Amino acid sequence: MSPETPPMLVFAHRGASAAAPENTLRAIRRAIDMGADWIEIDVQQVQNTLVVFHDDTLERTTNGRGPLAARTLTELRSLDAGDGERIPLLSEVLDLIDARVGLNIELKGPDVAGPVVALVRGLLQQRPAWRERLLLSSFDVAQTEHAACDRDGWKLGILFEERADAAMERAIALGADSLHVSREMLSPALLAAAHRAGLAVYVYTVNTAEDLARCLALGVDGVFSDVPDRALALRNSYANTHAGARAP
Ligand code: G3P
Ligand code: MG
Repeated sequence: MSPETPPMLVFAHRGASAAAPENTLRAIRRAIDMGADWIEIDVQQVQNTLVVFHDDTLERTTNGRGPLAARTLTELRSLDAGDGERIPLLSEVLDLIDARVGLNIELKGPDVAGPVVALVRGLLQQRPAWRERLLLSSFDVAQTEHAACDRDGWKLGILFEERADAAMERAIALGADSLHVSREMLSPALLAAAHRAGLAVYVYTVNTAEDLARCLALGVDGVFSDVPDRALALRNSYANTHAGARAP
C-alpha cells in the first residue's frame, strides 16, 4: 500500500458535522483542518439558486419553521443554521474548498441535477484543479441519470438504501464510479460484486470506532463520517500498521 493511497477514503459527512453545525461553511472548514479527503454536502435548489441543506423543512437545523421550498432565498439566508452560521450557497462552498479536497455534491430534490451539472461543467472548463475532485450522487434515479449525461470529468456515485441489485445494475449502465451503500446493507458479498464491476464502495454513515474498524477490515474504499477526525485517526493507524508489516 503506497503512502499516497490511503486504505479508506474519509468523507466528512455534511462537513465535520459532529464538531460544527452540519452543512455549514464552519463544518467544512473544520473538516479540511482535520485532513478529510472529501467533503459531502446536500444540495437543493431554491429560487434558481443552489443551497446547501439536507432536510425538506427548517426546524431541525435552523431557527426557522416550515418547508424550505416555501421560503424566499432572502428569508433562508437570514436564518441561523447553528452557531450563527448561515445556510451556504453551493458557490460559497466551491470558493471555500478551492479544490484543496474533494467535494461530493449529493443532489436532493427533484430539479437540482440540471443546475448543478451546468455549474460543474463550467467550473471544470475554467479550473482544471477540480478534475477528479468532484463527485455527484443521488438517491433519486432521475437526478442520477441527469448527472450521468455527457459527463466531462466529474465522478458519479449511485446512492441507495435498498435493492442493491438494482443499484448495481444502474451503476454499471450509467458508467458510475462508486456505489454509496448504507452501513446496514454493507456485506462482503456486495463489496466483492462491486469491486468485480470496477466500482468503489463508500459507506454511510460510519461513526463508531467499532463500525469504522469493520469497514477497514472489510476493505471498503471510503466512509462518510460525522467524525472525520476519528475515522482519519483509525485509518492512519491501520495504514501505519500495514506499512510496518511489509517492512523488511
Ligand atoms: O451521501 C451519503 C449520505 O449523506 C446519504 O444520506 O440522508 O445523510 O444525505 P443523507
Ligand atoms: Mg447526504
